[in-house]
Amino acid sequence: MKVRIGFGAVAAACLVLAACGGGDDSGGGGGSSSSSGSSSGSSGGAGQGQEITGTKTIDPNSMNNPPKGTIRYCQGKDTNGSAHEVVKLFNEKYKAQGYSAKLVEFPASADQQRTLFIQRQQAKSDDCDVFSSDVIWTAEFAPQKWLYDLTPYVAQQKSRFIQAPLETVHYANKYWGIPSSSDAAFLYYRKDRVKTPPTSWQAVYQQAAQQGGIVYQGAPYEGLTCDFLEVAFAAGGKVLSDDGTKSEINSPQNVKALQFMIDGIKNGSAPKAVTTYMEPETDQSWASGKYTFMRNWPGSYGLANQPGSKSKGKTAVAALPAFEGGTKAGILGGHNSVISVYTKNPGLSLKFGDFLASDEWQKILLGKYTLTAVTNKAYDDPTVKKNVPFAAQLKQAISQAKPRPVSPVYPQISQAIYKNVNDALAGRTSAQDALKKADSQISSALQTF
Ligand code: GLC
Repeated sequence: MKVRIGFGAVAAACLVLAACGGGDDSGGGGGSSSSSGSSSGSSGGAGQGQEITGTKTIDPNSMNNPPKGTIRYCQGKDTNGSAHEVVKLFNEKYKAQGYSAKLVEFPASADQQRTLFIQRQQAKSDDCDVFSSDVIWTAEFAPQKWLYDLTPYVAQQKSRFIQAPLETVHYANKYWGIPSSSDAAFLYYRKDRVKTPPTSWQAVYQQAAQQGGIVYQGAPYEGLTCDFLEVAFAAGGKVLSDDGTKSEINSPQNVKALQFMIDGIKNGSAPKAVTTYMEPETDQSWASGKYTFMRNWPGSYGLANQPGSKSKGKTAVAALPAFEGGTKAGILGGHNSVISVYTKNPGLSLKFGDFLASDEWQKILLGKYTLTAVTNKAYDDPTVKKNVPFAAQLKQAISQAKPRPVSPVYPQISQAIYKNVNDALAGRTSAQDALKKADSQISSALQTF
């Protein structure tokens, strides 16, 4: 990241834009990795040159004998039951010692999860002792001093984690969370209808128009930023210049990617309803058995095979395809357990975050729920190998996935992308006008610091 700013500058940008401290209900998230389109995992991590001081730092030993009590764990809607199960397992394991956790479910939308957490932190509330924080929010939340610095804990655990998810908690030379799950999307297809999955987006859309269609996340929220950038990055597009200072959203490559997606809806490759879909709606339409292709995160495989799903036993996954004349690209998603500085029981909060990252839980997360584990060991588990045919492919996908842009004004950047892209997909504006508008919105956001 070349935009090197200290906390003062972040705070100033936030004041001007009402960005980092909430105040907008629909904003995206904060970037946490290196500049757009470049790979994560740089040795120093993102946010170098920034110093975040004056926060609370965790004592790793505090989790061994914390005060008795109950901590609250806030995360997005538990669509597959995994959050209920991890809380139940934790409570069974530690009940006798007087420890428990309580699940607080936030809405399915990443944007709404962010807004609810920000509201609580601004009120200095301890409503969320532990929060399941999207990978894109580390750079936004850490400079606000809302998170415990977990560096001493992570230092002892580092070698257990896969590098890419670990980098998403690494910001300004410190570790602000514990990776809990990662994410990199797949192309889902009905194996009873498609013999070999197409390897270009163009071929996918062509087949989809002829047979069954493709569904994805096209509603105006963070998920659409991911879905669009997968196609745009594959077409050779970028969001920001390599030095992170200029918008490059209005490029011929991005126009081409967006036009391709607009045509996909016009030509019937994708139903117009995708412009209202987030992940749960996409999974529901897949379960209806109607569609032949779907873009979604790995957890959808588990959902597709649940009782009642008409795609049960008929669902297969493939790597996201390439854009013709371009390349392949995936976006790195995922969540980290962050500990609120307003918790009254940091030791118990750490104990819970540590349990979420334990091999004991990570192999259930992957083996039973097909959610992307963050520890190396989980992928070697025999049950995982048996139940998740694509486990090795998934581990590779997260290591190759690209981060979303890093900037203290990432919420505005993402919003500029998903609102204008959604307008274009819904037929309210052209690809050119949508990206021109996104460009001017991103440029004004960048100019404020
Ligand atoms: C998934 C990803 C997350 C992303 C979100 C968008 O939850 O893990 O990183 O921001 O989808 O909807």
